[in-house]
Amino acid sequence: MTETRRPEIPADPASGKGPAGDGGGSAGPPDGQPLDGAGAAAEGAAVAGAGTSGPPPGERTDGDTHPATPVGPTVIDPVATARGPEERVSTGAVMLGTIRRRVSLTLDGREVRVPEGATILDALHDEGTPAQADTPTICWAPNMDPINACRVCVVEVEGSRTLVPSCARRCEDGMEVKTDTEKVRHSRRMVLELLGSSVAMDRATADVQRWMTDYGVDTARYGPPAPPAAAGERDRRHPGHHHAPDGATAATVHQPVKVDNDLYVRDYSRCVLCYKCVNACGSDAQFTFAITAAGRGFDARIATEYDVTLPESACVYCGNCIAVCPTGALISRSEYELREAGDWHPEEQTMTTTICSFCGVGCNLELHVQQNQIVNVTSPADHSVTHGHLCIKGRFGFQHVQNL
Ligand code: SF4
Ligand code: SF4
Ligand code: FES
Repeated sequence: MTETRRPEIPADPASGKGPAGDGGGSAGPPDGQPLDGAGAAAEGAAVAGAGTSGPPPGERTDGDTHPATPVGPTVIDPVATARGPEERVSTGAVMLGTIRRRVSLTLDGREVRVPEGATILDALHDEGTPAQADTPTICWAPNMDPINACRVCVVEVEGSRTLVPSCARRCEDGMEVKTDTEKVRHSRRMVLELLGSSVAMDRATADVQRWMTDYGVDTARYGPPAPPAAAGERDRRHPGHHHAPDGATAATVHQPVKVDNDLYVRDYSRCVLCYKCVNACGSDAQFTFAITAAGRGFDARIATEYDVTLPESACVYCGNCIAVCPTGALISRSEYELREAGDWHPEEQTMTTTICSFCGVGCNLELHVQQNQIVNVTSPADHSVTHGHLCIKGRFGFQHVQNL
């Protein structure tokens, strides 16, 4: 799944030209500029044969007293490199974090130091108190680039006119971050409350439901939910469509579930428009671009091209959208049918980790089993091969196990 490529290593630091042979030449960066990530490697990490700049191999520049990892052929992990400053280099199978300068900031008055390029949310997770690390998120995921859509993770930053999304804003030297002010709490509550008043949130992740309680969300004050739309009605709305609220009920996105294939269903009554599925289907993982947002304002919704059914769309049924959906809007057909039959019992489920046997990539699989039947398949978000993503075979090709 992950293609690696060898960076051009300038043999002549003055000219910056790549070495003759062994990958030198055509794809080399101009004028001595190393490829993204290679520069950091040449400066700090141990780079076999580079010797052009930075400290000698084994010497750290970030204050870490641990010895540097032994020298090996250096390649860039293009998946990680695409994440901008989070680029990593690897020596063979060992993934190394790029050595980065540290920046100082305060979290609610307490000074912490984090690697340059870290987001405020990274700092809260890695250096914050348990309460700070519990900053609510909906559109953020550890295996995805920040989407910056839900705004439930906002914090105050001294000198900033508006609240800033902690999941996307990079830390800067001298930054003063406040995470628990009235303004922050009020804003987070409003986000959760407006989502809760218009979207069915009862299958959202346990964390999201806990945050709704913690922040005192009261959806009842918007009135009873408006009746659901008829099947396809919201999909037919076009940009510019407006209708006045009736003042007596809370507008909702409620509508019938879309069941149009054997592998997964789309229940957009539960969609908070976090865009995770769009990015998982697109440039974050699958590069299929089968779904995106259509419509505007309250009529915005996730749709296939021209609202065609999934079998008619570009979807390849990898299920990566299901894996990242935080609200249960996208679930496997097996889970949907068990829920419909009143036979969905997550508390009874076990999880077994194994390796996918369909091809040589060897993705890690987590088999979720209920009553001796596989009901879902996931992959750990922190696994270096899958980053939590799978293909149709790994995600849905488990029936043969149960037919034995
Ligand atoms: S299953 Fe895969 S290809 Fe289909 S919509 Fe979801 S992410 Fe895109
Ligand atoms: S379907 Fe799920 S992942 Fe996609 S935008 Fe809606 S809530 Fe987010
Ligand atoms: S989690 Fe930060 S904007 Fe959604």
